[in-house]
Amino acid sequence: MTRAQREAELLETVRAQPVPEHVAIIMDGNGRWATRRGLPRVAGHHEGVKTARAMVRAADALGLRYLTLYAFSTENWSRPEDEVSTLMSLLERAIHSELPELMERNARLRVLGRTNGIPAAVRRGIDHVVHATRENTGLNVLMAFNYGGRDELIDAFRALARQVQAGELRPEDISEKVISAALYTADIPDPDLLIRTSGEMRISNFLLWQIAYTELWITPTLWPDFTASDLYGAVAEFQGRTRRFGKV
Ligand code: FPP
Repeated sequence: MTRAQREAELLETVRAQPVPEHVAIIMDGNGRWATRRGLPRVAGHHEGVKTARAMVRAADALGLRYLTLYAFSTENWSRPEDEVSTLMSLLERAIHSELPELMERNARLRVLGRTNGIPAAVRRGIDHVVHATRENTGLNVLMAFNYGGRDELIDAFRALARQVQAGELRPEDISEKVISAALYTADIPDPDLLIRTSGEMRISNFLLWQIAYTELWITPTLWPDFTASDLYGAVAEFQGRTRRFGKV
């Protein structure tokens, strides 16, 4: 059996059972992938973009409703300047060149993160694709860009505090639902499954509120080596787990 045949068979098996609605991915290991090959770190990011593209296709093939990709964190600004500027232009170009395929797949791009602070040209490029795909009703690709989990909570709490101050909200009415609705992910269900590549056992300030009951799946595979079959395998393992949400 060829690799493509094995992948198609795995996809069929996974699709025969209910698939998660929302999968989030911490795409880690681009730098290590490049360093191991004696290449500059940005070569790893170039490969990483190819994997991200493959994951949009794979998520669509699976029939997921939401795929969240952690593309750039607020902490990533402290990387060397040339890596940051290369990443910015790489992400902008990747998103721009993805537009035809997103349209073809009826997929919608949305961004999670603070939009101020992103270079204006990059922001315009992203806004264009977000706007062009806004009516699409298929897969939602959520790109966490200039995203920080604690920043998201700060923004939400400030918004709620303003509502309280204006007399529009009573402190005793602040509930899980009210907080969820004040996040960047307001109308998006919490992730069912969080995948992290390259073996690190941490959350790195990602979707702190939303992952309270999310299943975690961590693989040593570096992001540029991650394949559609790896995603299907992770979902297959997820399907075998029992989620109790704190109950027995
Ligand atoms: C992790 O590698 C990846 C990032 C810093 C984010 C960049 C992601 C891409 C370029 C993938 C493309 C994404 C989209 C949405 C088009 P790392 O540099 O942290 O690796 P290391 O831990 O080995 O140094």
